[in-house]
Amino acid sequence: MKRTLTILLVLLMAVAFVYAQGSKEAGAASDVAKIGVSMPTQSLQRWNQDGANMKSQLEAAGYKVDLQFAGDNDIPTQVAQLENMIMGNCRVLVIASIDGSALTEVLKSAKEKNIPVIAYDRLIMNSNAVTYYATFDNYKVGTIQGGFIRDALDLEHAKGPFNIELFTGSSDDNNVNFFFGGAMSILKPYIDSGKLVVKSGQTTLAQCATPNWSTEEAQKRMENLVTANGYGPKGVKLDAVLSSNDSVANGITNALVAAGYTKSNFPILTGQDCDKPAVKNMLQGIQSMSIFKDTRTLASKVVGMVNSILKGTAVEVNDTKTYNNGTGVVPSYLCDPVFATVDNYKELLIDSGYYKEADLKI
Ligand code: BGC
Repeated sequence: MKRTLTILLVLLMAVAFVYAQGSKEAGAASDVAKIGVSMPTQSLQRWNQDGANMKSQLEAAGYKVDLQFAGDNDIPTQVAQLENMIMGNCRVLVIASIDGSALTEVLKSAKEKNIPVIAYDRLIMNSNAVTYYATFDNYKVGTIQGGFIRDALDLEHAKGPFNIELFTGSSDDNNVNFFFGGAMSILKPYIDSGKLVVKSGQTTLAQCATPNWSTEEAQKRMENLVTANGYGPKGVKLDAVLSSNDSVANGITNALVAAGYTKSNFPILTGQDCDKPAVKNMLQGIQSMSIFKDTRTLASKVVGMVNSILKGTAVEVNDTKTYNNGTGVVPSYLCDPVFATVDNYKELLIDSGYYKEADLKI
């Protein structure tokens, strides 16, 4: 009898132990918050990097991650992916939007379910569901680009006039207002005084926009500008081209190389992102500069925001004035962009571990 009781007791304890273990694991699993990360496209290097950085840093912080890319800048795909994230009980959404104004409807259900939304790199417009914004100082990006052209042509002292053409990105991307606005704040006074001449006459954001930041669209427009204005190494001198980023700069470079320009006479050309092809072009003297935005820093700021939101502690922001999305100012964290040229790329890109030397082999 005593023996049977002992066996029963041992059995009971074993069952209790197994049960306790099981429920501990189930509890742990349900305690892991899932974070939805929505990126606009896989066709541009930077967004692949952004997605990968976000996933690895969020996972390292102990979260589950639902990372989605919206095909190649496909708005309905992005909306559908967000719907799934909201239905799938993501606790926070991190979104780099394609069209900043196309998410108003879908984000209403995030708001209803109290799911905080962090706008990543690009501000999401006309939605009161946007809780925070993390980006680089986009206006500063533009002023660095404009300032680079001013200094390279020595516009303060040189007599001129100099010929310039202007390119920016997709007009549905709110950042473009800041990139183009920042650059024009530096260049416009020289255009107004006649020291800089835009022979095409195309100086408004709408005229200088590049749909979807497409390399092909930029190339087509630059080819047309070459034909219409007679630019060329043997024709009308083109001194500088403002480009808001590298994918657009690549198209401009293609058109200018086809028009006969080489590194010895290449117009000053700006860019942004330090994409590998753009850095290679810089090394070959067919792009003058780019802007380095260390996406690892942006990702770590966003992971910090997610942690604070879920812990209910204060979220770190450093700008509460600049970014109004139509429903009010969105508290923002702005990371610092820096300019990159052949002179400092090693320190910025290689020594920091962003690229390996082999990535930039021509
Ligand atoms: C980003 C740039 C990028 C561009 C095209 C902008 O919103 O800030 O870094 O080059 O989109 O993807």
